[in-house]
Amino acid sequence: MKKLLVTGGAGFIGANFIQKALRERSDIERLVNLDLLTYAGNLENLLPVREDDRYTFVHGDVRDRALVGALFSRYDFDTVVHFAAESHVDRSIVEPALFLSTNVLGTQTLLDAAMARWKTAPDDKYSREYREGVVYLQVSTDEVYGALGETGLFSEESPIAPNSPYSASKAGADLMVRAYHMTYGLPVNITRCSNNFGPYQFPEKLIPLMLHNAEAGRPLPVYGDGMQIRDWLHVSDHCAAIMAVLDRGVRGEVYNIGGGNERANIDIVRLILKELGKSESLIRFVRDRPGHDRRYAIDSRKITAELGWTPACSFERGMRETIAWYLDNPGWVQRVVSGEYMDYYSRMYGGK
Ligand code: NAD
Ligand code: DAU
Repeated sequence: MKKLLVTGGAGFIGANFIQKALRERSDIERLVNLDLLTYAGNLENLLPVREDDRYTFVHGDVRDRALVGALFSRYDFDTVVHFAAESHVDRSIVEPALFLSTNVLGTQTLLDAAMARWKTAPDDKYSREYREGVVYLQVSTDEVYGALGETGLFSEESPIAPNSPYSASKAGADLMVRAYHMTYGLPVNITRCSNNFGPYQFPEKLIPLMLHNAEAGRPLPVYGDGMQIRDWLHVSDHCAAIMAVLDRGVRGEVYNIGGGNERANIDIVRLILKELGKSESLIRFVRDRPGHDRRYAIDSRKITAELGWTPACSFERGMRETIAWYLDNPGWVQRVVSGEYMDYYSRMYGGK
C-alpha cells in the first residue's frame, strides 16, 4: 500500500482510517481522499492530517467517471479503499433512489476505473492479469446478511438477505465487486463490519444522537421496545482490520469484522444516561423503524484465524473514551448540529 485512493474520507470511519493510516504507516507515499461532502462529510474531521504532505483532498463524486479516471491517471493508485456511501438506514427509508445511485453505481464506477488502470491487457476480455500488488477493498456491512433471531452469528457464508433500502444497496454493491472478481479476476476484498462507534460519528446515529440529546436534556427516541441488538466495535479496531486485509488478505475473499459486544439499544441508552448523570425519564419509546432488523452479531473467526486480527478496545473502555471525546469537543458537535460545518470547505479551501 503506497498510493491510496480513499473514498468518503470526510465521513466517520473514513476520517478515522485516514488519520490512523497516515499516523502509523510510513510506506504510504500518497493518500487521496475523494469525498463529495454530502451532509455526512466534514473536513474538520481531517484537521490532524491537513498539513501532511502525503495527503490530498479532492472534492468530488465517486459516480463521476471522468474525475475518477483522471485521478487514477494522475496518481497511479495501487490501493482503493471504498468507504463513500449513503450510510443511514432511516434516510434510506425516505430516499431509496439516492442509496441505489451512490452505493451501487459509485462502486461500479470505481471498479471500472481500477480494472482499466490495473489490468495489464485492458482490451483483452479474457485476460485476468493485473499489476503486482494492486487491491480494491469494498467497505461493506453486516446488514447485507439481514436479521438474526435470538441465537446464531453471521459468517461469511450466511445468505445475503438485506431488509432495508440501505442494506439492499450495499448488498448490490458487494455483488458487483464479487462479479468483477469472478468475471475479470480483479483483485478485491470485501469487509463486512458490525456497528462502529467512536469519535467523529455524525449525531444521527444511535450513540452520538443519544449523547447529544442527553447532554441537552432533550428526549431520547428509542425505536419500538428498544430490545434490538447490535454488535458494537470501536472504529479504531475496524480501521486496523481493514489494514490487516490490505496487507495480508487473500484477494477475492470476504472478511467479517465484529466486536463481540452484543448490546440491546435500551441498555446503550441507559448506560449513556448513567455516565452523564441524567435521568431515565428522558427516554421516549417511539414508533419503530419500518423493517427494523432485530439482531446482528458477527462471527469474526475467519479474520482472526487467517489474518491475526482481534479487537484491541473493550466495549467499556471504548464507550468511556467516546463519551469523553464528545464532551471534550462540544464545538465539533455544535458546528455539526448548527450546520456550520458545511461552510468549512469554503473557509479552509477558499473555493480551490
Ligand atoms: P458516513 O455517512 O459518516 O460518511 C460517508 C462519507 O461518504 C461522507 O464523507 C460523504 O460525504 C461521502 N459520500 C457520500 N456520497 C458520496 C459520493 N457520491 N461521492 C463521494 N463521497 C461521498 O459513513 P460511515 O459511517 O463513515 O461509513 C463508511 C462506510 O462504512 C460506508 O460504506 C458504510 O456502509 C460502511 N459501514 C459503516 C458502519 C457504521 O457503523 N458506521 C458499519 C459497517 C459498515
Ligand atoms: O451494522 C452496521 C450498520 O450500523 C452500518 O452499516 C450503518 O451504516 C450504520 O448506520 C449502522 O446501522 P444501524 O441502523 O444499526 O445504526 P443506527 O445508529 O441508525 O441505529 C442503531 C440501533 O439504534 C438500531 O437498532 C436503531 C436504533 N435507534 C437508532 C436511532 C437513530 C433508535 O432506537 N433510535 C434512534 O433515534
